[in-house]
Amino acid sequence: MAQSSITIKKPFDSHVHLRRGAVLRAVTPVTAEKFWGAIVMPNTDPIVATIEQAVENKKEILAALPADTTFKPLMTLYLTKDLTASVIEKIAVDKEKLIYGVKYYPWGYSINSQWGPRDASDASPVLHAMEETGLPLLLHSEVHLNAENHEEDPYDGEKLFLKDTLPRLMDKYPRLKISLEHMSSKLGADFMEKNGKEGKLVATITPHHLVYDRTDAFRTGYRALLNCKPLIKRTEDKNAIRELVKKGLPFISAGTDSAPHPESRKFSSCCVYGAFNAPVALELYTQVFDELGCLDKLEGFLSVNGPRFFGLKPAEETITLVKEDWQVTEPVVTEEGIKIWSVCDKTHGLGNEVIHWKIA
Ligand code: NCD
Ligand code: ZN
Ligand code: ZN
Repeated sequence: MAQSSITIKKPFDSHVHLRRGAVLRAVTPVTAEKFWGAIVMPNTDPIVATIEQAVENKKEILAALPADTTFKPLMTLYLTKDLTASVIEKIAVDKEKLIYGVKYYPWGYSINSQWGPRDASDASPVLHAMEETGLPLLLHSEVHLNAENHEEDPYDGEKLFLKDTLPRLMDKYPRLKISLEHMSSKLGADFMEKNGKEGKLVATITPHHLVYDRTDAFRTGYRALLNCKPLIKRTEDKNAIRELVKKGLPFISAGTDSAPHPESRKFSSCCVYGAFNAPVALELYTQVFDELGCLDKLEGFLSVNGPRFFGLKPAEETITLVKEDWQVTEPVVTEEGIKIWSVCDKTHGLGNEVIHWKIA
């Protein structure tokens, strides 16, 4: 008989954008309701590049939480040219454990990504210190410029990173703990199946890359809510990452990449990259695992593998989902009245989208 409910340890989001200011105050409670903790991305405006800035951003997140929430924001630092090995050493001896990783963005490629080194491998002293201390490097694993500074095909970013940048990085820093973020292609899935290793080389997967392909993203015009990096790809890519999660590998985990943007930037002539999915992420992951017939693998993916990579135990608290149809009919709204639309939105998504799993 088909399963109609599931109880799992409360999930952990290995990759979320909570931003700053009014947007942060609007979206943080949405993530905190469904996840006990999350690895918080540092590409805010301004970016989080120092320990002091991480302290400040964390304070802002904690202040935005409802009184009864115990949500843990686990901070990261942006890999800039100014980051030093001594900061990494300071992070390693911090008893409070503020920083859980360093994030690399390919220069100029994604949102607020103009601060990083041209090539991840260039950050030698910092990366050596991270090898020594075991602090993970989180990678936006795409390449967009070739050696002559010409733009590559935007659908090839992940392929180029895995073929060239990553092998060089792994050769030069063999003990570095690496997480490949938002894995989006068949090539990425094959690469992880072959090379993934618990505690060493892991990958996160978003709900939108599991649910949609580029036929959806272009259905009767380009779908703004699905415009994100890495670009949503072919059906065969989607199917390959679905097959990957189905295997229940210990080095693959949920990282929503929930990336909120104000309506004015999303529905503009140059639609900004980022898919806001916090209101539906957990439900979509569950739906996909149900469709694949592998609900028994859901807890590992959502609640165990992510925390373990960051040296944390899974939650003791549980959450129950039931198989019940619902729709997203409202945006998340900031205190200034700015709307943030979620993927699957009834009006602005693909049109009358129905989600089949719901929090009980
Ligand atoms: C992210 C954002 O909006 O900050 N956007 C995205 O399309 N994924 C940046 C990122 O994760 O690369
Ligand atoms: Zn990214
Ligand atoms: Zn992201």
